[in-house]
Amino acid sequence: MTETKVLPPTTENIKLVGQLLRDGRLVALHTETVYGLAANAFDPEAVSGIFTVKGRPQDNPLIVHISELNDIRKLVRRFPEAAQRLAEAFWPGPLTMVLPKSAEVPDAVTCGLDTVAVRMPESPVMLAAIRAAGVPLAAPSANRSGRPSPTRAAHVMDDLGGSIPLIIDGGSCDVGVESTVISVLTKKGSKLCEIRLLRPGAVTADEISAVAGTDVKIDSAVLSSLPEGSAAASPGMKYRHYAPRAEVILVEGGFDGFLRLCAGFAANNDDNVWAMCFDGEGDRLGMPYVEYGAIDDPLGQCSRIFDALRWFDEMGAKRVYVRAPSKDGVGLAAYNRLLRAAAFQVISTDD
Ligand code: TXA
Ligand code: MG
Repeated sequence: MTETKVLPPTTENIKLVGQLLRDGRLVALHTETVYGLAANAFDPEAVSGIFTVKGRPQDNPLIVHISELNDIRKLVRRFPEAAQRLAEAFWPGPLTMVLPKSAEVPDAVTCGLDTVAVRMPESPVMLAAIRAAGVPLAAPSANRSGRPSPTRAAHVMDDLGGSIPLIIDGGSCDVGVESTVISVLTKKGSKLCEIRLLRPGAVTADEISAVAGTDVKIDSAVLSSLPEGSAAASPGMKYRHYAPRAEVILVEGGFDGFLRLCAGFAANNDDNVWAMCFDGEGDRLGMPYVEYGAIDDPLGQCSRIFDALRWFDEMGAKRVYVRAPSKDGVGLAAYNRLLRAAAFQVISTDD
């Protein structure tokens, strides 16, 4: 057992973070998306510790975090013009780009792939930590693998307390879902860049397309489960993710249908069934509920999804029916996370 300290991001504590990271230790850090579990990206041993502590599958590569644009030169072989424009428009911020990797990036980070995922985060805590360490930081979400991503320091403590020396508490994460991941790669035998959305987030496909001046292909793994044994463009998308202990069911259709579905539990709810719905709807359901934002506010929904999923565990919920968010714009990020929490179980109340 390691004693896990939770400290605020003071100058002194950030210095300590830099020291720990240079010494090959792991530190959990606030970012604007979700908390990250960081290690020196150039230290393969430290990086492999991330996989052990999280219980992460060995074929799921990590995102490398940088604090200034110049840092990317060490990490990638090519930095296509479209990617440069995207970096200018969206960094620092919740966008990750998968690019051809340089020889300096250890296989431990990329799981042997020829590409590396890079992001410049916006959180001053994470940026200060990268500067204090003096190296780019490899960091996945700081949850135990398969659990909902952590959006507060207490979530990290619940999952990783006793296995890491330090959590820097920067408060709750504004965005609340992980970064948008795109690949920006040239196809074999072509000079043209192809942009593919591997994981939806707060930066939308339309925004990316407008800046890059090309179409963005939505990878099939965003809205469906991959057939057993098939190769994933983004390995992380093939795992059941974000799963609370309760069975989660995503419910498509209008509020009236949801109300009818819930009426069945209002009379008898011995199984501790919960509802997850939009603001202002819960009181009419006659069963325990969590509201996760206004129906037309996908950003607000994103910021509350993981907190709600963890709350169901605390309440001992056995099953949760979730009002499905829209799949448009930022809504696609909310939908994608809930779909995985539901292990792809979706029902529709429309006749
Ligand atoms: O917002 C975020 O991105 C957070 C914070 C901490 O920065 N990090 C995060 O990391 O969500 P993680 O490890 O939970 O998710 C990384 C995702 C996975 O789906 C992984 O498969 C994908 O990025 N990925 C990483 N490297 C890749 C690569 N070379 N090619 C394709 N996908 C990659
Ligand atoms: Mg994760």
